Amino acid sequence: MARDYLRHYDVLVIGSGLAGQSLALRLAESRRVALVTKRSLEETATAWAQGGIAAVLDAADSVDAHIQDTITAGAGLCNVEATRFVVEHGHAAIDWLIAQGVPFTRDGSAFGYHLTREGGHSHRRIIHADDATGAAVQETLTEKVRKHPNITVLERHIGVDLITGAKLGLKAQRCWGAYLLDIDNDRILTVGAQHTVLATGGAGKVYLYTTNPDTATGDGIAMAWRAGCRVADMEFIQFHPTCLYHQHAKSFLITEAMRGEGAILRLPDGTRFMPEHDERAELAPRDIVARAIDFEMKKHGIDCVFLDVTHKSPVFIAHHFPNIYARCQKLGIDISRMPIPVVPAAHYTCGGVVVDLAARTDVPGLYAIGETACTGLHGANRLASNSLLECVVFAEAAARDILADKPAKSPKLPEWDESRVSDADEEIVISHNWDELRRFMWDYVGIVRTNKRLERASHRIKLLEREIDDYYANFRVSNDLIELRNLVLTAHLIVRSAQQRKESRGLHFSRDYPDMLPTAKDSVLKPSLR
Ligand code: FUM
Repeated sequence: MARDYLRHYDVLVIGSGLAGQSLALRLAESRRVALVTKRSLEETATAWAQGGIAAVLDAADSVDAHIQDTITAGAGLCNVEATRFVVEHGHAAIDWLIAQGVPFTRDGSAFGYHLTREGGHSHRRIIHADDATGAAVQETLTEKVRKHPNITVLERHIGVDLITGAKLGLKAQRCWGAYLLDIDNDRILTVGAQHTVLATGGAGKVYLYTTNPDTATGDGIAMAWRAGCRVADMEFIQFHPTCLYHQHAKSFLITEAMRGEGAILRLPDGTRFMPEHDERAELAPRDIVARAIDFEMKKHGIDCVFLDVTHKSPVFIAHHFPNIYARCQKLGIDISRMPIPVVPAAHYTCGGVVVDLAARTDVPGLYAIGETACTGLHGANRLASNSLLECVVFAEAAARDILADKPAKSPKLPEWDESRVSDADEEIVISHNWDELRRFMWDYVGIVRTNKRLERASHRIKLLEREIDDYYANFRVSNDLIELRNLVLTAHLIVRSAQQRKESRGLHFSRDYPDMLPTAKDSVLKPSLR
């Protein structure tokens, strides 16, 4: 093997959003870190986040209130210990981001920063940078990461699979790094590391309509599953109620903070409908608002509903939502004069790889953080703006654990074996299967589910799995094939979890089981290693 194909670092971090970058920065003072990302460092779901980061920052707010709001939204399924852990570390996480230089929006309050409100929160506790919080966070951390001498950035590299003791035929199970596809040079690197961290985000691209970037293909969840890790609560896919409905606006979110500041949901004839669905109206948790919109769209046979903020002054709107104002203006929608057409879209994967309070997975040496992980914080429905907080808190917890761990003796890592594959003959198989998957997941495993729909989806997934396994075994891997393989596996895990749940809870609503069972149970899936 040419030397360049084999590399060693202390820590391999796959994914460059808030979770991955904050972890890399915390470790880099004393560890050599490789930070891997499929596109550029900046192209992440974090960069698309608008609303902000929830934390107890105001004297009138309390840790107990934030915990209670999280648990209420989570429909009884939140892990109370994990919830307390995240909320209690909230203030320190925000202080760390401020110390990195994140330009949060200031005001004249005692704390010095403006706090907005979102659905399900009993207090104003969302710190933000106008309506483009994620972009501000991403830009600030990216600048630091790029300059850090101990961080090697591998852009346009995608994880193919983890290298584990089990795969090497060793008795002791441990993760020793990963095979990465260098997308531009079409070659596979073997990257060895004492610790490997999956921070690849969620799997919104499994659905036809999503607020997520194209990179959200469930890579970390799929790699962890193939390596032998349990996953949990995969049926809980959060549909954001308000994604802009416009043919030229792919996946553009209209932040929930707009409803927090008084925007009203209306039918095309101007009728307000949320009070009929929930006494909290537009500020009910997301599952309720998304289901209400879905119900109204189906009832009236309409393509979208409207979010109306025209009762606020143009100055207020431009000040609080400059990003959305400008983007809609470009598309011919003056939001100070006309309501915004919106539809629900897949937004967040609440479940993921099972981890403990130090972000450790079932495989020693392997960690999962951010949307890839299931820490138990989100339960059956994530409370708005809790996810960026979870990224920072669990990145810090993982860093602490990694720094405290003693180095283990690494085995010899074999190079990637391409001796039995050839170049793909028909790329169309990949794009066709990708489209088919996303459409039937939207139709059969969306906001409202039934046994029949899940059965239909499961049947189609089995066919796709067979076809992709065959393709994977015979042809050289490509970025698209890796992503499709991961998406299909993630879809499989979502459907299996949904089929196991014989009730409606939080984000999982089944017409066949409309009631919630008295006891809340996680749906945990365990892989059988071949
Ligand atoms: O609506 C939003 O700005 C999204 C926030 C979140 O998903 O936490």
